[in-house]
Amino acid sequence: MGSHTPRQKAFVVGHPIDHSRSPLIHGHWLARHRIEGEYVKKDCDPEAFAVFLASLKEQGMIGGNVTLPFKEQAFDLVDACTDTAQRLGAVNTLWFENERLIGDNTDGYGFLANLDHRAPGWDAIEKRERPVLVLGAGGAARAIVCGLQDRGFRSITVANRTESRAKTMLDDLQVTANVASPDAITDHLANIGTLINTTSIGMGDNAVPFGLDATALSACHPDAVVTDIVYAPLVTPLLDAARANGLTTVDGLGMLLHQAVPGFENWFGPRPKVDTALRNVILQDLGYPPDPAPS
Ligand code: ATR
Repeated sequence: MGSHTPRQKAFVVGHPIDHSRSPLIHGHWLARHRIEGEYVKKDCDPEAFAVFLASLKEQGMIGGNVTLPFKEQAFDLVDACTDTAQRLGAVNTLWFENERLIGDNTDGYGFLANLDHRAPGWDAIEKRERPVLVLGAGGAARAIVCGLQDRGFRSITVANRTESRAKTMLDDLQVTANVASPDAITDHLANIGTLINTTSIGMGDNAVPFGLDATALSACHPDAVVTDIVYAPLVTPLLDAARANGLTTVDGLGMLLHQAVPGFENWFGPRPKVDTALRNVILQDLGYPPDPAPS
């Protein structure tokens, strides 16, 4: 028997999980901070998820991430959760506190931190007074709408293919926002400060959500910021259409990177940085050339 302490081990659990880039992110930070830790992928049958969570300690896990389709189930199974996770009814980050399993949801944090990082000033007071348009009403939209409200955006409009789902989301979250019809979305563009795609449209289908092509986006105010949570492709057709109009765009890769920060800090100690080196690790994995080093 060795006398060394076992390596600190964290995980990401999902089904499927093969595509997850989280091990690359945490692996990069572990190396950067010279921490003898480990971050592993765990595929889990949906029926076996409760057993998986109950046996974390036996597996030597100090915490981990939860992805599709387990975020809601994890919320039901944790011993306690943060106010954010409570509000969203979904958990993506787990750690132990005094033997109790705690759940948090860092998606909204990751979304906001990405915009803060890549489009400083996007939330300036004058921008917060202008409407923000959110496309989609799934799990990611829930976290983002709450994040926007917490950041002080007072006029939020949501458009979703299934309009009733947008209404249910806002009722659940107790967020005051308008629901717009996807068919009439262009009527809402002229005054918006920020346009956010949270739908999966643009992921491999070469499509823009709700007809928002370059011609439609020419109705936006020139200082509008357009962002997408899809990061493969990195420049989605929506972002491409925004760029064609000279609008500021923020791709979705940064949300993935920033949402990982609180977990790493909780498990391993240091608060890790989202920088060009980390971004390049994931860009390379996605088959893109690296970003130039910052000057
Ligand atoms: P996530 O948790 O990643 O947000 P989700 O809960 O499956 O994923 O939500 C996906 C979002 O993309 C929803 O807003 C969905 O619209 P519906 O609520 O009408 O299903 C939207 N979406 C997915 N495919 C779409 C498509 N082909 N056209 C329009 N909206 C689509």
